[in-house]
Amino acid sequence: MATAFNIPATIIVGGGASNEVGAQAKRFRVKNVLLVTDSYMENSGLAGKIADSMKSADVNVTVFAGVQPDPTDLNVHEGLEILKKNHCGMVVGLGGGSPMDCAKAISAMSANEPPISQYAGLHKVPRKGVPMITIPTTAGTGAEVTKVVVIGDTQRNVKMMMLDLNLMADVALVDYELTMSCPPSLTANVGVDTLVHAVEAYVSVKANPMTDPFALSAIRLVSENLLEAFKEPNSAEARRGMTLASLQAGIAFPNSSVCLVHGMSRPIGALYHVPHGLSNAVLFPTVTEFSISGTPQRYASVSRTMDYATDADSDDVANEKLVAGLKKLNEDLQIPRLGDVCKVDLTTFDEKVLNMANDSLASGSPNNNPVIPTAEQIVDLYHKAW
Ligand SMILES: NC(=O)c1ccc[n+]([C@@H]2O[C@H](COP(=O)([O-])OP(=O)(O)OC[C@H]3O[C@@H](n4cnc5c(N)ncnc54)[C@H](O)[C@@H]3O)[C@@H](O)[C@H]2O)c1
Ligand SMILES: [Fe+2]
Repeated sequence: MATAFNIPATIIVGGGASNEVGAQAKRFRVKNVLLVTDSYMENSGLAGKIADSMKSADVNVTVFAGVQPDPTDLNVHEGLEILKKNHCGMVVGLGGGSPMDCAKAISAMSANEPPISQYAGLHKVPRKGVPMITIPTTAGTGAEVTKVVVIGDTQRNVKMMMLDLNLMADVALVDYELTMSCPPSLTANVGVDTLVHAVEAYVSVKANPMTDPFALSAIRLVSENLLEAFKEPNSAEARRGMTLASLQAGIAFPNSSVCLVHGMSRPIGALYHVPHGLSNAVLFPTVTEFSISGTPQRYASVSRTMDYATDADSDDVANEKLVAGLKKLNEDLQIPRLGDVCKVDLTTFDEKVLNMANDSLASGSPNNNPVIPTAEQIVDLYHKAW
């Protein structure tokens, strides 16, 4: 089957890459830029530094630092009003996936009619908005290079997933130095998100020869660097490896797909406000065990790439080692159980669990899984991960 492969036109990678923001903004010949970020980035001084870099290239900067973690349509609306009021011809998204997604959505909504909810799903954004630069500070979502945006719909209390080429940044500045300040728990959560992106891209029914090399490279980089970045936050080498892993996984998954882990994770995020990486992490070993029979050879390759298994191991043995290895990785990263992160008792959880399973199926992601589950099987998986 022929498949499309999309990435931003310019990706600048390496220590100090974020210093290029002024020169890059200038290339687009805009006078006014909206810098979309969150309060941490504003208070830490990083937003000011990025703004100064653009100002020294003769670009006026308006800062919108109101993005909340796991942003909603209200954040997008607020940012869009500021963009219009200040006649901004470009957006720069600085932060983790939340500010970058919000920036991408603001750009899209600068050229398309509200409400944003009509663009949820695949290839539904008719026009490209103002140009975008993305600068990630976590490693990470890969949102700097994806044509994906995830925004909370406050009316329906669901997380909307949009995938469209018009949501892709024009320039991504990927600078591992900006991730050095991530505390261990954030490093762990977003690092497992990266691993899930890479593994899901590789086992998806949409995996293809352009995405496989990026996915496998990202898996190897995570296995070599995530625990080190968690234990030694000041290790530049580990931060560099994880930033590269996040970027490569971000190149792989939107050109293949995410699968059941992401499908089941979004309802947890929407209902219990669990950070995205964490809600993936608590499901990952359980969903992997369920999915292996759909593509045992590919999962065995994942296990060997992570050095859980060797070439001498059969695929079955490699896959047993993979499930054990992922459980141990969660323990080492101090990832709790699903029940701990939802912070409700099982009876309360069960009142909503069938709706969650149906929301998960409606998102479309489970259809790309090597084993396509029924709603009842999804309920069972939530219980196993509890
Ligand atoms: N568009 C995509 O392709 C894509 C892919 C995966 C996830 N997502 C979305 O991304 C969002 C999650 O993004 P995230 O996990 O990067 O976290 P985030 O952006 O929500 O940030 C989480 C917290 O970490 C802080 N933080 C960020 N960088 C930091 C740093 N360098 N030092 C210290 N603190 C820092 C933030 O201020 C915030 O408080 C979710 O909404 C998820 O749905 C999008
Ligand atoms: Fe993700």
